[in-house]
Amino acid sequence: MNILVTGGAGFIGSHTLIELYKAGHTALVVDNLCNSNPEALRRVAELIGIDAIPFIKADIRDSKALDSIFSANHFDAVIHFAGLKAVGESVEKPLEYYDNNVNGTLVLLDAMRRHGCKNIIFSSSATVYGDPAEIPITESCPKGQCTNPYGQTKSIIEQILTDLQVADPQWNIVLLRYFNPIGAHPSGRIGENPNGIPNNLMPYITQVAVGKREYLGIFGNDYPTPDGTGIRDYIHVCDLASAHIAALKPIEQKTGLNIYNIGTGHGYSVLDVVKAFIRVNGVDIPYRIMPRRAGDIATCYCNPAKANREIGWKAQFTLDDMCRDAWHWQHANPNGY
Ligand code: NAD
Ligand code: WQD
Repeated sequence: MNILVTGGAGFIGSHTLIELYKAGHTALVVDNLCNSNPEALRRVAELIGIDAIPFIKADIRDSKALDSIFSANHFDAVIHFAGLKAVGESVEKPLEYYDNNVNGTLVLLDAMRRHGCKNIIFSSSATVYGDPAEIPITESCPKGQCTNPYGQTKSIIEQILTDLQVADPQWNIVLLRYFNPIGAHPSGRIGENPNGIPNNLMPYITQVAVGKREYLGIFGNDYPTPDGTGIRDYIHVCDLASAHIAALKPIEQKTGLNIYNIGTGHGYSVLDVVKAFIRVNGVDIPYRIMPRRAGDIATCYCNPAKANREIGWKAQFTLDDMCRDAWHWQHANPNGY
């Protein structure tokens, strides 16, 4: 299939491009590079063994740019990664987040409709479950109250896509609810490249390991979990990437709207991750216990059985693999791209 990949220069998009080409698909990337570097695409092409990944620098809110892209190319489906994703920033800048994520998706969907491409895989998030009503979380668990505008944009876009598919059953839509993607391509050539102080746990740990930060702050050790720190379902970014190739199956089979949890099904605490990182990589990670971070929940992990049953996808990498590959990337690229 030929796939339009929005946000393809980013962390998850760049890893997904490799899996797409490995599976025999081709892609064109649209990205405005607001949170990424074209060097990622150059390295992806190098890893795949092609000259270049077709790329157009454009904003998905630019309907004219999308029109010319859809007029010049035939796409069998869109994988839609483009979006802003920093939870804290979304609290400060709600209008920017709703505009970029929700309005951007509306503009994209309208262009897809005009050009007769009605197949889309959307990057959703475990955040739509809020403080989950059940653990492990299945797809039938009700959506919850999101504590920040970022999460709201994911929930709203899911609703828009659901309404669209009801109105026009020709649409085939897959909502992938990612849990906590970490790690990097085992080559160490591409990985997560946050701007400024990392918001998320693993990039913070790797920046401590490489000497850019003095110590890790652990946000609370008084949660109702075995060691008191928060529990999450960390998933290797390459496993997450391969879930998108599996998700093309229901698109090809034209089965309407499908929702899948994409996680390993295992919950690890912050201390589990820190200890695994130290053991696997033989580097020290000094840490201090800090107050809880606003909006955090105690425990979040999924039951990924539906994705296994229906699209044949299952995570392969372990937490040790995630720690090794995250460090390999950071160590080889201390300043990112
Ligand atoms: P990322 O920031 O690395 O990648 C997103 C890409 O989209 C970037 O390259 C950015 O430049 C681009 N982009 C943003 N707004 C755009 C716009 N208006 N027009 C064109 N390009 C635009 O983030 P990521 O971690 O790769 O996440 C990809 C998607 O997955 C996002 O939608 C994110 O919300 C979602 N997601 C991520 C996580 C996570 O923890 N990383 C978890 C759940 C869901
Ligand atoms: C994981 C655990 C923290 C940093 C976020 C978004 C979610 C999704 C994935 C999407 C928690 C603890 C963290 C640190 C710490 N995003 N922590 N010190 O919050 O589960 O999910 O990213 O695009 O929508 O909310 O991930 O990596 O920030 O935190 O102790 O410096 O690590 O409290 O328990 P989170 P995270």
